Amino acid sequence: MAFNHKHILGTEYLSREDIQLILDTAESFREINTRSIKKVPTLRGKTIINAFFENSTRTRLSFEIAGKRLSADTVNISGSASSVTKGETLEDTARNIEVMHPDIIVIRHGHSGAPHYLAERLNCSVINAGDGAHEHPSQALLDILTMRQHKGKIDGLKVAIVGDIAHSRVVRSNLYALNKMGADVHLAGPGTMMPSGIERLGATVHYDIRAAVKDADVVMMLRIQLERQGMTLLPTLREYARFFGLNDDVLKLAKADAIVMHPGPMNRGVEISSAVADGPQNVILGQVENGVAVRMALLYLVSGGEQAVE
Ligand code: NCD
Repeated sequence: MAFNHKHILGTEYLSREDIQLILDTAESFREINTRSIKKVPTLRGKTIINAFFENSTRTRLSFEIAGKRLSADTVNISGSASSVTKGETLEDTARNIEVMHPDIIVIRHGHSGAPHYLAERLNCSVINAGDGAHEHPSQALLDILTMRQHKGKIDGLKVAIVGDIAHSRVVRSNLYALNKMGADVHLAGPGTMMPSGIERLGATVHYDIRAAVKDADVVMMLRIQLERQGMTLLPTLREYARFFGLNDDVLKLAKADAIVMHPGPMNRGVEISSAVADGPQNVILGQVENGVAVRMALLYLVSGGEQAVE
């Protein structure tokens, strides 16, 4: 099957077949990450720029490691250390990057649509590493790879996603992708963090964590995006933890073999108790491990893979 996407801007634009190909390619790359010499020549001679205008630990590190393991030259720029702080526009920054002839730009930006804006203007491939509250496709793909590894399939799984739905790019990318893969998605969060009409993206909405978690195969907890909306939507973090935090009592409502996921960074004691975060059902570090393989797959596939790219 051919992968005919030059850019990865969101899971909204990927088909079920595209997602399957990305997951299968990632599976084949996973083994490289456990070798003693973790490098293959696949992207030798390619230049990848990781442009992170918002903070990141996992995503940035794993895109960089992914590029290096495929032998690409990876270069990083960050918002705080770039001329953006001197008033340069995104377009001017991008034009200056472009004349250095990168093959791929991986961008994280606080504004929704920033990667799309670059993709329309630049010749290189653009991968969205998180744009505002819009999409975070590589996160959803690594989440779904992790679910597939533990559950053997995605079709028919009950997936509960709980937290700050309104400001989460992770949830939007998961909604598009999980629906294409046949999952039954249930969302829960406070009314102030539940965007109206989100059901239209393919989800059952609850305002009670227990209803969402009941009989779930997968429970995914989200961080409150304090940087996007401050504390205005909540009385207190303590109250939030009481009503929407995942603890052992709530987790008991899920299937006995349910897995617990979190994209990180976790706020222990807020959306998830430490007992659950470190408990036997958590697969949180497995998600991070899969992140490297999924990002290797994305870099490889947008570069043409073994097939021709449009
Ligand atoms: C997420 C993000 O940045 O959107 N983190 C991540 O990439 N692993 C989720 C979050 O910040 O809460």
